[in-house]
Amino acid sequence: MMPSAESQAEAESLRKEIEYHNRRYYALDDPEITDIAYDQLLRQLQALEAQYPELLTPDSPTQRVGAKPLDAFAEVVHPVPMLSLDNAFDQQEFANFDRRVRERLELTDEVSYIVEPKLDGLAISLLYEEGQLVRGATRGDGNVGEDVTQNIRTIPTIPLCLTGSGWPKRLEVRGEIYMPKAGFNRLNERARQRGEKSFANPRNAAAGSLRQLDSKIAAGRPLAIYCYGFGLVEGGRLGKSHSESMALLEGWGLRISPELEKVSGIASCHNYYQQMAKRRDGLDYDIDGVVYKVDDLQQQQHLGFVSRAPRWAIAWKFPALEEMTQLLDVDFQVGRTGALTPVARLEPVQVAGVIVSNATLHNMDEIQRKDVRIGDTVIVRRAGDVIPEVVRSVPAKRPADAKEISLPKQCPECGSEVIRLEDEAVARCSGGLFCPAQRKEAIKHFASRKALDIEGLGDKLVDQLIDRALIHTPADLFTLTLEQFADLDRMAEKSAQNLLKALEKSRQTTLPRFLFSLGIREVGEATARSLALYFGGIEPLQLADLDKLQTVSDVGPIVAEHIIAFFRQPHNIEVIDALIEAGIQWPAIEQIAADQQPLADKIFVLTGSLSRPRSVIKEQLQALGAKVAGSVSKKTDYVVAGEDAGSKLAKAEKLGIEVLDEAALEVLLAQL
Ligand code: IVH
Repeated sequence: MMPSAESQAEAESLRKEIEYHNRRYYALDDPEITDIAYDQLLRQLQALEAQYPELLTPDSPTQRVGAKPLDAFAEVVHPVPMLSLDNAFDQQEFANFDRRVRERLELTDEVSYIVEPKLDGLAISLLYEEGQLVRGATRGDGNVGEDVTQNIRTIPTIPLCLTGSGWPKRLEVRGEIYMPKAGFNRLNERARQRGEKSFANPRNAAAGSLRQLDSKIAAGRPLAIYCYGFGLVEGGRLGKSHSESMALLEGWGLRISPELEKVSGIASCHNYYQQMAKRRDGLDYDIDGVVYKVDDLQQQQHLGFVSRAPRWAIAWKFPALEEMTQLLDVDFQVGRTGALTPVARLEPVQVAGVIVSNATLHNMDEIQRKDVRIGDTVIVRRAGDVIPEVVRSVPAKRPADAKEISLPKQCPECGSEVIRLEDEAVARCSGGLFCPAQRKEAIKHFASRKALDIEGLGDKLVDQLIDRALIHTPADLFTLTLEQFADLDRMAEKSAQNLLKALEKSRQTTLPRFLFSLGIREVGEATARSLALYFGGIEPLQLADLDKLQTVSDVGPIVAEHIIAFFRQPHNIEVIDALIEAGIQWPAIEQIAADQQPLADKIFVLTGSLSRPRSVIKEQLQALGAKVAGSVSKKTDYVVAGEDAGSKLAKAEKLGIEVLDEAALEVLLAQL
């Protein structure tokens, strides 16, 4: 069916509205509507386009999610070549550049320059025809680049159509695509957790994302743009100066660096450079220098080009963020949660102004992928506040006696077994209750509200107790005296007394709380409860094998392995014995077999926004034997629907499945 004029107009108006809000959000950082309202607009448009595919235009905001994968990128011949910049590496070289400019222009006055950071990303050319984005191309060799339009369309800071009016009929905008540091760190962290390959630096990550043949992958990558110039301009004109032209671009919705300034004279140029160098680490994107451009376009024209670079611009570079050095050794550091991190001990090297002698190697998978061995020459990177890291080795420089790095079998802090589960990148110490590296965390967890609930024993007190070596394990808490407590900073006799009372009270606990308090990996409150219900005591749990553990309602193979590893450590058992010796006790628990749990075999689906985190409700249901599924099917018993529930609710209603709101869920649970 052909779309009616009415739906056509509706699609058009939705598109405009969405693009407007896109600009407010991404370019101006000043949104007018909530994310939910925005999503609704987008969904309306998607629905309309699904109903009438004729309405779908390539510049529709719905296309930002990515299109069909390509077989290869087409070539693009740049109508105006994309040049590079000459570099200056110190004040003298910059002064020489400025002198040459003035001589050629026969100026005795100071020159006005437009200055902004030199982003360390990838040059891009965006072609707009009649205000519509028709093509995005990489720089390539400067004359011929690659057509990456599909990927470009997924970048939210790139307008698909220009706003305002007065733009040239054909306008080629140039800028730098980059990946913000925060997004890059998140992307790499996720890759490491999944055991996937991480990117060496944000520039590589941006390049890899832009060159994805499948634009759906690019759509998931946090790319952004700053526009810094223009190429082809036809059927219209820009300003008389670079700065006027940039202001026009900004008015049409293109994103310009907020750091852009106009300065005159080399003293101001130098000042800008120094300020920017100071702020470099704090910016959310990598920069490798400052770019200076003669502002007046007539002057630019007069100056012209030499080979591949304009005479009217220069990049004054900062020291590099990556340097080469030698890997002397690797130590393993145990974090507060027991994770073992390989730390590279390096021949000290200056990286962007700071001496680096240690750097992280993240985990064993990364070591393998980066092919790093002790004795290797490696590339180290230091960017901002993040810990310096070894980016890769330089295999060509590998000495014959380079040594492979292996994971220690025992924790370097406490000697407990190091456990690395299959599919997990991270290796961990399994001596949670005993390991000095994990002490503070273990005791804070032990005392927390959902564990033994020792009122008044806050994090600061735990820090003090451990720093003064008054306690080593949770069991030691019960040996402390009133005098010892009263002697701590910010503790009076009264509060010391209260603390002793709280400790006394905490001795009477429940088995689920006690199991939870041990801090076994992956054993949350709900799992602790299931385990307690199933085993009824510590000993049977301690003796259970993998198969037995997995018959408990929400215990899978990973949780089971963590439980087994925990109880295999003699030190952990010693602490548990000491706790029981100290008088920790709980009432006998009635054992409930898995199939007799109140919600055994019931399948729940949670949807919409609920007042408590979904994970909490999920754990609560699982502890009662229920299964919590991600999608609604005929087998679903209950759908718990919060506000703004969408398709899952609709499906439940269609299938006649019982729908509960949160209040109804509470009623159901209370009846069990
Ligand atoms: S202006 C005629 N401004 O640096 C060339 N370039 O080394 C005009 N770059 O390929 C370029 N930030 O990708 C300019 N603020 C900025 C820049 C910038 C990064 C890149 C650009 C270019 C390379 C030249």
